[in-house]
Amino acid sequence: MEEPKWSGRASFVLASIGSAIGLGNVWRFPYIAYKFGGGAFLVAYIIVLILIGIPMLLLEFSIGYRFKGSAPYSFEKLSKERRMPVNFEWLGWFAVLVGFGIVTYYSVIMGWSFDYMFYSIKTAWGENTREFFYQRVLGLTHGVFDLGRISWPIVIGLLFSWVWIVLSIWKGAKTVGKVVYVTVTMPWVLLLIFVIRGLTLPGALQGVNFYLTPNWKELLNPALWHAAISQVFFSLTVGFGVMIAYASFLPEGSDIVNNSILIALADAATAFVSGFAVFSTLGYYAQLQGVQVSEVMKSGPELAFVTYPTIISKLPLASLFGVLFFLMLLTLAIDSAFSLVEAFVAALMDKFGIRRQFANIGVAVAAFVIGILYTTGAGLYWLDIVDYFMNHFGLFTVAFLESLVIGWLYGAQSMRDFANSVSERPMGTWWNFSVKFIVPLSSLLIFASALRDRIREPYGGYPRLAEVLGGWLILGVFLIVSIYLTNLKTKRSD
Ligand code: TRP
Repeated sequence: MEEPKWSGRASFVLASIGSAIGLGNVWRFPYIAYKFGGGAFLVAYIIVLILIGIPMLLLEFSIGYRFKGSAPYSFEKLSKERRMPVNFEWLGWFAVLVGFGIVTYYSVIMGWSFDYMFYSIKTAWGENTREFFYQRVLGLTHGVFDLGRISWPIVIGLLFSWVWIVLSIWKGAKTVGKVVYVTVTMPWVLLLIFVIRGLTLPGALQGVNFYLTPNWKELLNPALWHAAISQVFFSLTVGFGVMIAYASFLPEGSDIVNNSILIALADAATAFVSGFAVFSTLGYYAQLQGVQVSEVMKSGPELAFVTYPTIISKLPLASLFGVLFFLMLLTLAIDSAFSLVEAFVAALMDKFGIRRQFANIGVAVAAFVIGILYTTGAGLYWLDIVDYFMNHFGLFTVAFLESLVIGWLYGAQSMRDFANSVSERPMGTWWNFSVKFIVPLSSLLIFASALRDRIREPYGGYPRLAEVLGGWLILGVFLIVSIYLTNLKTKRSD
């Protein structure tokens, strides 16, 4: 079988950056930075990026590049090579399945953005953006078990997302390598437009002050470190097998140390710059309303689909900025979404030897059908629950075990020797320490604290049953499926 490869370094770097940069940079990072001490959080973020983020990125790149396969395939090979007591192929499956769990709702958010691009043309949300989003668009019901109606405009948006995803990875790395030239640069250009537009609005400076004024005392708050670690993992898309798959498409003679540093910094810089776009605009709005920035600050869907539309209506050229804003969200999200699908597709191809397009369409159809749940009136609740469980328990289980398997069973030193043998700049010994101790310990702590919280009370005030169905059951099924798949014979053999 002809292996797909990146056509050059730029394709690989752009694709990885595209996977990393997503909604998390724009709608999550600025809020968390503000909440945990502004400038002080930035310092913590950089520390976590260096101690955990870059090492994890290099770890996944090393695995993929060394074993030239998807996450499950690579873990199977490395388990066999070192005669490990357990075949860790299951861990690779679990990682891509958790990512798949995320992409089922991530694509729904893309669907909302798609619809909002059209609503922007006539600023259809009118005066009451909140009512428009929750009632008109989502048709939000009063409880998780009251599904209400399916929102057809969202289904159409979702369908659009999946067609776009499928086409973007049609011939694997070959197609992705071309698509990312557009889908990575476009959101950057658009973001820049929003930074300039935001900073030239009255009240902008007040907003930026809220964002950056450091509160150094926050550095003593464990919740800040917890938030920084979660944000770094989610933002870099490590722990989902994506970076393993992407590195497996690297041609001989590629560098991975320099590239992981470059990619991590580009991701962090984008998050940092996003903060200016978000906070300058909020500063303007706060001034307009005669309130504090803290009173208008929101994150997540509320920021993008309620607060931002309100402000856009007040700008000259509202329709234009509206369309550009939602186009920015779409192009930010698309390469994160397809990176995961590609990681899953690569895994299925390695395992079953099936044709790429077949796997590609199969994954898309499955995700689309599951995604319909999120287009119902209870969709937002389920999205919230699944998001929490995938990103806390799923992600940190993978991060914990991945670092242990490589750090202790495979040998951090031996993996680092490999990474350094192919890279221009060597990674220092401290990497061993990070992979053996810092990553597993911090992952374990986050997992344990989330577990303690969940034992005390169900997530987000939802009924326990909803948490069991949308959280534990899914993770349990992923685990069983992962083990089941591991026991099947792997088609690819080289
Ligand atoms: N890194 C992306 C962001 O910052 C999101 C992301 C993380 C993601 N893991 C994922 C998207 C898995 C799809 C699947 O927004």
